[in-house]
Amino acid sequence: MKGIKSLLSLTALLVLANASAIPSYVEVHEKRESLHPRWTKRDRVESHKLFPMRIGLTQTNLDVGYEHLMDVSNPASANFGKHWTSKQVIDAFQPSKETENEVRKWLVENGIPSSRITHSENKGWFAFYATAEEAERLLHTEFHEYEDSESGGVIPGCEAYHLPKHVREHIDYVTPGIRLLAPVQRQSLKREVVVDENGLMKRNIHGLLQNPSDASYTKPNDLSTCDVAITPDCVAALYKIPPGKTSHPNNSLGIFESELQFYTQQDLDLFFTNFTTPQHIPNGTHPIAANIDGGLGVIEDPYYAGGEVSLDLELAYPIVYPQTITLYNVDDFIVQANQNDTYTFGFNTFLDALDGSYCSFSAYNETGNDPNLDQEYPDPLLGGWQGQLMCGVYKPTNVISLSYGGQESDLPISYQKRQCLEYMKLGLQGVSFLFASGDSGVSNYPASVGGIDGPTGCLGPNLDIFNPTWPGTCPYVTSVGATKVYPGKTVNDSESAVFDPAGFPYSVNYSSGGGFSNIYPIPDYQASAVKVYFDNHDPGYPYYSALSPDTGDIKLLPDVGALAGSTGGIYNRIGRGIPDVAANGDNIAVYNGGNFTLSGGTSASTPIFSAVITRLNEERINAGKGPIGFLNPSLYANPSMLNDITNGSNPGCNTIGFSAVKGWDPVTGLGTPNFPKMLEYYMSLP
Ligand SMILES: *[C@@H]1O[C@H](CO)[C@@H](O)[C@H](O)[C@H]1NC(C)=O
Ligand SMILES: *[C@@H]1O[C@H](CO)[C@@H](O)[C@H](O)[C@H]1NC(C)=O
Ligand SMILES: *[C@@H]1O[C@H](CO)[C@@H](O)[C@H](O)[C@H]1NC(C)=O
Ligand SMILES: *[C@@H]1O[C@H](CO)[C@@H](O)[C@H](O)[C@H]1NC(C)=O
Ligand SMILES: *[C@@H]1O[C@H](CO)[C@@H](O)[C@H](O)[C@H]1NC(C)=O
Ligand SMILES: *[C@@H]1O[C@H](CO)[C@@H](O)[C@H](O)[C@H]1NC(C)=O
Ligand SMILES: *[C@@H]1O[C@H](CO)[C@@H](O)[C@H](O)[C@H]1NC(C)=O
Ligand SMILES: *[C@@H]1O[C@H](CO)[C@@H](O)[C@H](O)[C@H]1NC(C)=O
Ligand SMILES: *[C@@H]1O[C@H](CO)[C@@H](O)[C@H](O)[C@H]1NC(C)=O
Repeated sequence: MKGIKSLLSLTALLVLANASAIPSYVEVHEKRESLHPRWTKRDRVESHKLFPMRIGLTQTNLDVGYEHLMDVSNPASANFGKHWTSKQVIDAFQPSKETENEVRKWLVENGIPSSRITHSENKGWFAFYATAEEAERLLHTEFHEYEDSESGGVIPGCEAYHLPKHVREHIDYVTPGIRLLAPVQRQSLKREVVVDENGLMKRNIHGLLQNPSDASYTKPNDLSTCDVAITPDCVAALYKIPPGKTSHPNNSLGIFESELQFYTQQDLDLFFTNFTTPQHIPNGTHPIAANIDGGLGVIEDPYYAGGEVSLDLELAYPIVYPQTITLYNVDDFIVQANQNDTYTFGFNTFLDALDGSYCSFSAYNETGNDPNLDQEYPDPLLGGWQGQLMCGVYKPTNVISLSYGGQESDLPISYQKRQCLEYMKLGLQGVSFLFASGDSGVSNYPASVGGIDGPTGCLGPNLDIFNPTWPGTCPYVTSVGATKVYPGKTVNDSESAVFDPAGFPYSVNYSSGGGFSNIYPIPDYQASAVKVYFDNHDPGYPYYSALSPDTGDIKLLPDVGALAGSTGGIYNRIGRGIPDVAANGDNIAVYNGGNFTLSGGTSASTPIFSAVITRLNEERINAGKGPIGFLNPSLYANPSMLNDITNGSNPGCNTIGFSAVKGWDPVTGLGTPNFPKMLEYYMSLP
């Protein structure tokens, strides 16, 4: 041990000695602090070896993206609703001309001829080939080979590199450089998924299915049984939603599916026939297929009918009809069937299909899809999608409902932040993203064997720290929690936050996901609502106040314990709060695989809320206005248009969780929709 230590300090000395020979007009741009034990530094790279060099240019305006988005979505702004075109978005965020010119000039002056330099299509980086010798001279460093003990691979890298002072501000990072990315090893960040006795993947926010039951006790037009089964009439009565009448061609509702969620027409027809009388949705009504990278929405065999997609479509159709639904089914079957990874990670291939510029967009040291986390296309596996990665092939619908998500703690921060920026960019273009807030209250499913969340679904060394659900924590999306009509209550009573203890009826403890991000700070639009919550209803738990540092490293957010430090805190007091809003998410009547059954989850709440927003957009578009776009600023500006939920809590991590109280709370957000009030408000906006 001792030997190794002294060897390390010797290396450090050598670096220092080197550094003193470095000219004074350059500065260290990046320096590696430590070397993971899987890597071993080997010989200096031979001077004639060729490197594919990439210079990541500093993006302009990423930090003002929030302001841009508020400018079009804050109801107090004169530009409310004036959404941007995709070209405006690309132009606004590409590196400045000055950045481009300065970096090119520096390269040319240092022996890299302009003819050798390629500028990427999204303007985010320069690429060129250079010999090791050229690269060393350019960066005032030495390149060594680093061997990866896990894969045996060898890649070039340096311990630190230098750039002229005036160039540094224009460059994010250079590769090869200090970062040692292990050769693609798709399992590296993946864990096993535990499937419970109902066949549910516990990791994700799937619709929770009860056992098939008898439809006869629930009558389509009888509101007296809404405490037993939620039918379309119950949803309409709870939120005062009148039947839809129009179908503007530019206002389809988007619903995201993956993980082998295929619907059958028979299920839709059974549902329409039995539950949508007299406002009858005709048999054969089906979503518009928007299949991505080998995805497929519909299947014949009821054996393969997916609980989540049945739930989503059967909740949303009665609200939006005659408006259409666009079903985004993402990834080929092989990827969807790989329960090890789908949508614990993900959404990148989906976003690529909606915005071609995202395919190669660089931010936070990540360019394009992450080779460790995202599926590559063409998929080399037999039966996989043989086409190219689909980039920009579908125009996004105005509203997109996603009943999927994972844990903030499961993903590299840089990966999440890059994706979060994309929600901001699409928000600027008028798209509303709604994500389920999770079904495990302040924790997450205690599922991932060997995973960070361990056996409790909670974080930290004592496995007691709350574990928020991603991507709802991204401040540019709307996170939707769940409510329930408890036995004996009617649609005329206030709903309560959902809580079903394990076994009654689902195999897992089910409560509305809520809490505070460890990555994103409290956004301005939410700040006063969160402050009022803590001022009046401090839950009394010890807390910490820290955000995960933005290192841009390919690093998970493992060490929530480190964020908590020695405070003993179990949640983050300065993080973005979720959910933003809520809707019913329990005992939902569905047909799935030919059977009548009851289902639930924030998976149900999300398509309900999304369908309501689609109806509001429909009215706005019919009146010559644009869609609402990013919802949160206008929701928080006018909370009285929501039914405030003030009863219930979201247990987890050996606590009762947070409580639903007057005003915003991290259980049900601002509350459930009141359609007439929301309509009045949104029609009053430009
Ligand atoms: C709800 O209230 C309305 C109006 O007071 C009443 O007509 C209806 O019967 C009530 N519904 C239920 C299920 O109690
Ligand atoms: C739908 O949107 C497109 C632009 O995306 C526009 O050209 C067209 O006029 C719109 N259709 C209607 C009926 O408003
Ligand atoms: C619609 O489909 C359902 C289920 O297949 C069937 O029971 C019903 O008879 C059909 N209705 C009509 C009008 O065809
Ligand atoms: C449809 O509803 C009727 C009446 O409630 C019921 O008798 C029938 O079994 C239902 N059909 C199916 C296929 O569940
Ligand atoms: C999923 O992970 C398990 C355990 O790590 C592994 O045995 C299995 O091969 C993986 N499955 C796929 C489809 O990658
Ligand atoms: C449900 O929560 C209780 C109380 O926190 C806990 O004891 C139990 O293990 C949990 N059950 C499951 C299936 O997670
Ligand atoms: C890129 O990564 C380096 C080192 O990991 C870090 O110092 C730098 O801040 C990162 N850049 C961004 C934009 O995250
Ligand atoms: C439907 O119910 C039947 C009878 O209980 C059962 O055999 C079948 O597996 C169920 N189908 C699905 C998709 O759950
Ligand atoms: C409050 O919520 C609990 C479940 O958390 C439920 O049992 C109770 O009926 C609710 N009370 C009211 C007044 O809605």
